[in-house]
Amino acid sequence: MNIICNKSSGHFHLYNDRISYIIAVAPSGELTNIYFGKRIHDRDNFSYVIFQMGMPNIAVDADTESYSMELNRQEYPSFGTTDFGMPAFEVETENGSRISSFVYKSHSIYKGKKELTGLPATYANEEKEAMTLEVLLEDEQAKIVLTLFYTIFDNYPVVARHAEFRNEGKDTVKLTKALSCCLDLPDQNYEMMQFTGAWARERIPEVRKLTNGITAVESKRGTSSANFNPFVIMKRPKTDDFSGEAFGFSFVYSGNFIAAAEGSTYGRLRIVMGINPERFTWILESEESFVTPEVVIAHTDLGLNDLSRTYHRLYNNNLVRGKWKNRPRPILNNNWEATYMDFTEESILNIASKAKQAGVELFVLDDGWFGERDDDFAGLGDWVENPKKLPQGMAGLSRKINAMGLDFGFWIEPEMVNPNSNLYRRHPEWVLAVPGRKPSLGRHQLVLDFSRKEVVDYIYNMLYKVISGASISYIKWDMNRPLTEVFSMDSPPEKQGMIYHKYVLGVYSLYTRLIETFPDILFESCSSGGNRFDAGMLYYAPQAWCSDNTDAIDRLRIQYGSSYGYPIVSIGSHVSNVPNQQTGRSTSIATRANVAYFGTYGYELDLNEISSKDFEEVKEQIEFMKKYRELIQFGDFYRLRSPFETDQTAWMVVSKDKKKAIVGFYCMKSNVNTLPGFLRLAGLDEETLYKMEDREYYGDELMNMGITLSEFYNKGFTISEDYSSFVSVIEAV
Ligand code: DGJ
Repeated sequence: MNIICNKSSGHFHLYNDRISYIIAVAPSGELTNIYFGKRIHDRDNFSYVIFQMGMPNIAVDADTESYSMELNRQEYPSFGTTDFGMPAFEVETENGSRISSFVYKSHSIYKGKKELTGLPATYANEEKEAMTLEVLLEDEQAKIVLTLFYTIFDNYPVVARHAEFRNEGKDTVKLTKALSCCLDLPDQNYEMMQFTGAWARERIPEVRKLTNGITAVESKRGTSSANFNPFVIMKRPKTDDFSGEAFGFSFVYSGNFIAAAEGSTYGRLRIVMGINPERFTWILESEESFVTPEVVIAHTDLGLNDLSRTYHRLYNNNLVRGKWKNRPRPILNNNWEATYMDFTEESILNIASKAKQAGVELFVLDDGWFGERDDDFAGLGDWVENPKKLPQGMAGLSRKINAMGLDFGFWIEPEMVNPNSNLYRRHPEWVLAVPGRKPSLGRHQLVLDFSRKEVVDYIYNMLYKVISGASISYIKWDMNRPLTEVFSMDSPPEKQGMIYHKYVLGVYSLYTRLIETFPDILFESCSSGGNRFDAGMLYYAPQAWCSDNTDAIDRLRIQYGSSYGYPIVSIGSHVSNVPNQQTGRSTSIATRANVAYFGTYGYELDLNEISSKDFEEVKEQIEFMKKYRELIQFGDFYRLRSPFETDQTAWMVVSKDKKKAIVGFYCMKSNVNTLPGFLRLAGLDEETLYKMEDREYYGDELMNMGITLSEFYNKGFTISEDYSSFVSVIEAV
């Protein structure tokens, strides 16, 4: 890894073993992109790449009379001079002008990576892990300094980018758009893979062909959202999981966002990502700075499995922090689907005791333990134990659960308040709402104004009391409605455009305080399942409840889709009861576990209520997961067969030394009178002899010829039964 600065030609070349990212100071003084992709040699001068010929009906820089931003690739483009594409930012100065020209002033190159104050971001623990280039550009008239940050990691084909604006003038200016990055590519032969859905059907991959014009996904819900995930892939049309070129764009942020690709009619493809400019206006007063969140851009020429593994490794090693970083996760039992809010301490202890017998390690008490919370009409905001349900409070319950030999954790939803709560009756001005207008409800609740420090402080103090008084090793932080009527009763009119972002900063600040005070607690983020499943959250909560849909067959799609951008160990996945409470579908306890193994693993049911035969199986499942969780959660993950293309799905994990692997195969729908065929495995060592079930195979045999599915699975005319599955361990002999 290195960053070369060639002073005479004015170019910067960031490279490691796999990638080169080359930028240069353009003749106009702005920054232009020369190249991003597979590693190439450096040379003295790349200025031949810059296009400087006249073309009809374009605008050119007045000094050179030949350089047009529109005909070149920009690093952080403005609109209003010589480029007509999507800008990365817009600054409105006091005279109403929105024209900017940020030209190169200086740069610095250093080892390591700086933090982004108040924001989540990848980090480099040691200086040799990463190098950073900061390029300082200035708009001399507006007296605003723009710094573009580029970090290249030694071990990953990744460049992390963000920008910072600093107002060095006397006048206040408005940032009406401040995205995190722009990457212009020289051709448009790409498809955009996006991860879309809604509640209970999150992160389903969809592919759109790119062409002239704009293709975009966004969130305006205040969270990153289940509807469009802040992760997109731009891939060559033939790129699949095993081969081909692609770029990934992962936004390390949990609020409104936009990810857009724009094909210009001159052939350029522009990709931008950042905070959604809709309803965003940041007032930047003299001497103030605004820092954008980070985008992690990854490149592969080896297919999408390789791209995903880059994100898995980078996020496990350089985004997740604290005690739970790279640690196998406890097997838990959560009572939500078992009881909903209808429980007593006795019924909870009953569930926990059976869980302990099965081998579970952590018991989690979900929603309903506080205030007047017997249904979802009341109680949010009143973070005090309900004595009818917990006579000795959280302290008493946690002690009793600990005495059984289980760790204990519980559920919170700190950003919300029910109108029927003591908190709302005392502080109706603490919610996001426009005075005099009725605020919209979501699950009968309102959103607290987390842009206000006193609101965050108040919630922190209430939670502190409950947590510090009890023995808590896990917290599930939920968030169950989108933001609407985003107006803060504490902010002046001109600052209302800052509230969406300040809200997210408030959420991050509460997380930071809780993590700093209780560093051993494992946080799991949740937002009606997967409404805030993003890289930003992983900085605080190393795992996320991936979906409220616990149906094994639907989960195959959801977990498969989630694996493109997020580590397996971050995917909250549990076995629940059948018929499934979201879909009505019944699957065997074996298949439910075979799916849930590929995540954090746990049970979302009362184990007293399953048959004794199933209970015996559950004990074996827990033993299996304890033995193999490190491999599953931190091994190299390969998608083998897509649930979106066939009626079967398969995936596998391989240990770093390639001596062990586990493959999961699932039949979502049986196909009568078809041959089961073969399943080609991946990631093994070609020369090694492996044992899988009763047979030995060479790695090259498993990867090229594949396993004969009929041996594992199918007997007779059908390709097995609907919802059948197997999970098989492969070990080097
Ligand atoms: C939504 C979550 O996704 C569920 O798992 C559960 O915690 C409920 N909220 C509780 O209200």
